[in-house]
Amino acid sequence: MAKELFAGQRKNKYRIVVSKEALSKKNLVPLLKEHNKVLIITDDGVPSKIVKKVTDICKRSGKVSKIILDRGEKAKSLKNFQKILNFLANNNFDRADLIIAVGGGVVGDISGYVASSYLRGIQFIQIPTTLLAQVDSSVGGKTAINIAAGKNLIGAFYNPKAVIVDTSVLDTLPNREFKAGLAEVIKYALIQDKSLFSLLKKYSQKILSMDPKIIEEIIFSSIQTKAKIVTKDEKENGIRAILNFGHTFGHAIEAQSKYKKILHGEAVAKGMKIASRISYLENLITAKEHQEIIELLQEFEFDLSLSQYKYRELKPYIFRDKKIKKGKLNLILLNQISDAIVTNSFEIKNLQKGLQD
Ligand SMILES: NC(=O)c1ccc[n+]([C@@H]2O[C@H](COP(=O)([O-])OP(=O)(O)OC[C@H]3O[C@@H](n4cnc5c(N)ncnc54)[C@H](O)[C@@H]3O)[C@@H](O)[C@H]2O)c1
Ligand SMILES: [Zn+2]
Repeated sequence: MAKELFAGQRKNKYRIVVSKEALSKKNLVPLLKEHNKVLIITDDGVPSKIVKKVTDICKRSGKVSKIILDRGEKAKSLKNFQKILNFLANNNFDRADLIIAVGGGVVGDISGYVASSYLRGIQFIQIPTTLLAQVDSSVGGKTAINIAAGKNLIGAFYNPKAVIVDTSVLDTLPNREFKAGLAEVIKYALIQDKSLFSLLKKYSQKILSMDPKIIEEIIFSSIQTKAKIVTKDEKENGIRAILNFGHTFGHAIEAQSKYKKILHGEAVAKGMKIASRISYLENLITAKEHQEIIELLQEFEFDLSLSQYKYRELKPYIFRDKKIKKGKLNLILLNQISDAIVTNSFEIKNLQKGLQD
């Protein structure tokens, strides 16, 4: 059974449909009605079967073009941004036309940013095909590209017209990518969703073996939490910060690894271990809760070792994070399991200790 939910406020509200067969004529065709031309943006790592399915459905409604980027983070470049804009202009796309992003967070981020800026905004649909994109990047309206000075430094808040989350597309996803995406699912459980936490604990083995029913359930719960938070705080002025739980440290670990050896989710799992430990050292969560969190992360087979990361080396990245406000570092900690808080009152010695293995 397809499940649906909504995110976004008023006229920027959009429907998110989640199911094993969400990518269907029934869900896509009504969204194409008022558009003449469609541009599908994807990358060469997305299975062609998925792209073909989208193309075939769109073809019935009008003219379809396709841009296939080279896979990888490097695709979120100014060069590709320009290339896509030129394509749109050269093919006379106007505001009544549509962009469809078919892929992971990389494709979704650059497609969304192109959509936000071409003719000051044309509509776009997200069809996320990685677990990370399904539970995180496709919902919330953050779009971005990278420049030499840093990741995601250029972007816009721009909501999609709709998000179609077809969980069956995950069948082809490499196991490592799938597991990395699970880190974000655990994040939602830890920051807000107690029943998701119980579900993850109870069904960890089924999830790891990709049981479709339970996968659909955890994806839906994750999106529900994300949608609730981003709808309350569309432009990240407040509560939305809790979505960065584990990320200040995760980003530092990623940056220190030069984004090569470690996937985002893998770094975030380590980051959540650090943030949970600081929460314990700050007397916010109990030893038992702390233990429960570590056990859950271990249950999902995350490598939680921190021995290769030294406080001294991570510190510049931690303090350069976007979470600095008025010279103070804001941390997202846990008051208890499924109750995250943002605080700048913590002991630096606990921050250091949190980073120890
Ligand atoms: N906008 C946001 O709110 C937000 C949130 C989190 C992350 N992000 C961004 O998302 C990006 C990471 O996204 P990602 O983890 O999805 O990586 P990704 O988009 O690079 O996808 C990972 C790899 O999987 C391949 N792939 C995609 N779907 C597949 C499928 N169904 N089967 C097999 N292979 C498939 C891709 O081709 C790619 O090689 C980063 O750039 C990050 O900054 C954005
Ligand atoms: Zn993340």
